[in-house]
Amino acid sequence: MAREFTSVGVVGLGTMGAGIVEVFARNGIEVVAVEISSAALERGRATLTGSTDRAVAKGKLAEADRDALLSRVDFQVGLGALHSVDLVIEAVPEHLDLKQRIFAELDRVCKPEAILATNTSSLSVTEISVATTRPNQVIGIHFFNPAPVMKLVEVVRTVVTSADVVADVEALCERLGKVDVTINDRAGFIANALLFGYLNHAVGMFEARYASREDIDAAMKLGCGLPMGPLALMDLIGLDTAYEILDTMYRRGGRDRRHAPVPLIKQMVTAGLLGRKSGRGFYTYERPGSPKVVPDEQTPAATEVALADGARVVAKVGVVGSGTMATGIIEVFAKGGYEVISVTRGAEKSAKVCEAVKTSLNKGVVQGKLSEEEREAALGRVTWSATLEHLADVDLVVEAVVEELSVKKALFASLDEICKPGVVLATTTSSLSVIDVAMATQRPADVIGLHFFNPAPIMPLMEIVRTIRTSAETTATARAVCAALGKTGVLCGDRSGFIVNALLFPYLNDAVKMLEASYSTADDIDHAMKLGCGYPMGPFELLDVVGLDVALAIQRELYLELREPGFAPAPLLEHLVTAGYVGRKSGRGFRDHTNR
Ligand SMILES: NC(=O)c1ccc[n+]([C@@H]2O[C@H](COP(=O)([O-])OP(=O)(O)OC[C@H]3O[C@@H](n4cnc5c(N)ncnc54)[C@H](O)[C@@H]3O)[C@@H](O)[C@H]2O)c1
Repeated sequence: MAREFTSVGVVGLGTMGAGIVEVFARNGIEVVAVEISSAALERGRATLTGSTDRAVAKGKLAEADRDALLSRVDFQVGLGALHSVDLVIEAVPEHLDLKQRIFAELDRVCKPEAILATNTSSLSVTEISVATTRPNQVIGIHFFNPAPVMKLVEVVRTVVTSADVVADVEALCERLGKVDVTINDRAGFIANALLFGYLNHAVGMFEARYASREDIDAAMKLGCGLPMGPLALMDLIGLDTAYEILDTMYRRGGRDRRHAPVPLIKQMVTAGLLGRKSGRGFYTYERPGSPKVVPDEQTPAATEVALADGARVVAKVGVVGSGTMATGIIEVFAKGGYEVISVTRGAEKSAKVCEAVKTSLNKGVVQGKLSEEEREAALGRVTWSATLEHLADVDLVVEAVVEELSVKKALFASLDEICKPGVVLATTTSSLSVIDVAMATQRPADVIGLHFFNPAPIMPLMEIVRTIRTSAETTATARAVCAALGKTGVLCGDRSGFIVNALLFPYLNDAVKMLEASYSTADDIDHAMKLGCGYPMGPFELLDVVGLDVALAIQRELYLELREPGFAPAPLLEHLVTAGYVGRKSGRGFRDHTNR
């Protein structure tokens, strides 16, 4: 029989604590909510009432249930009020000495059988537990932000946590409607160990002015389907908390440079820019604690103004290539009202591409996304050719041939001879340097990267990659085309992986390393990222879809260009690729897909 928890205590009612109080009180458990001062207590109370009032306004909570919920919470200053609770969860700032002091005091105040839990994200639960005389009753219960919404709880057992305590806490999580993963005490556990290197890297991109905050966030939301961009997520977590987590992970997790907090984070914390809780972080919010972003001096000027700036007129587009990307791109431009010339290496290939475009458009008609007239009009706009010379008078060429530098360079040299002056020459490369391709022509100012995502007709994102030679007109033209296609274009520099792949693949590689170290299972890691961070797929599900060979190639490029030791491909990834287990396409990757 699992232990009954009739009352629990929560210490610290900040970003996490207030949410944790709500989780317990919503589930009929009495809560003693404790803060350090009456002012902090009132802030915590206001967070809780604000959150429950919003739930009532949205129709997710009845008024009577809200009142019952609030009546279950006893707000108190000082730890003395926790003398008779069955479990305490500590959610004070991420400092080891502070947590150890609090646990020593809780040990004195709480009844002997009470379980003492920490919500720490990165500190050692073991080190916290030894501040008490009952380390076997100390455990980590790591909720995710916002606690009332996120389903995951990481239950962290130390080498001395008793099995009963682990089982009781697991049963409690189930009662709270949460999904738990139970793991050992390691810096960052599952989710943060995979998340924080990525967040820090994104801040580094912003600090280096590689891309704007809006573009970095839009890239990860639209390119990977994440619920929030990394900078908006830093604001939600709180920059002070994020700094402490990174700093601890750096020190505890083998001094991986990717966890050394980017200097900008410390500067922002010092300046009081803590994120949502202080009303300003990477973005500016309506008021402290508000989720509503308001314009500030970094807000881009109205897009129409920026788009009109020197953009050339584009009516006729050439698309070179006959693979998946070229096919999708032809469809995108044809549906977008452009006249399209498709160029392949032969009539047979052209016929195949034409068939594929037709099939996809037909699907659109069946799904009711397109009328029959629109399909006919789109097809009518495409000319099929096997001769590059037909591109002499197009306004834009989009190249989507095989990902080999020599092939792309030869093609661009030919385009340079064939195309009229002023044409924009774009490459869809996802891993090569755009400048390498540009320098194969006599007009590098007209060359740009237009990185479409697969499937091109569906994915709303395009990365617009400027080289150091790309002209302002070429960039403006690319942005205007992107907007006319109804896509979100994000502007970035010509670095390996651009924004999305540079942030995504190291995270996937880290997940493989975590599995390789036997810290957790593929299922639990996938669960943790989906339920703790709201990702649409776990890393192993995604790797099997993307292809392990593709992931390995991208990771190798990133490693070669940036020379970051942490980017070295995981040996397990290399072995699986060598063994031919490359994912769904081969029937087996991290999982067996043959019978699914
Ligand atoms: N922010 C997140 O997204 C997140 C997610 C999961 C876990 N965590 C972890 O949760 C813990 C709390 O983080 P946070 O972001 O909520 O911090 P926070 O700064 O928002 O809140 C901390 C609260 O603790 C209170 N406090 C400080 N000293 C106290 C004391 N002696 N007694 C009682 N209360 C005290 C403060 O007044 C403040 O209200 C940290 O260990 C953090 O790593 C944070």
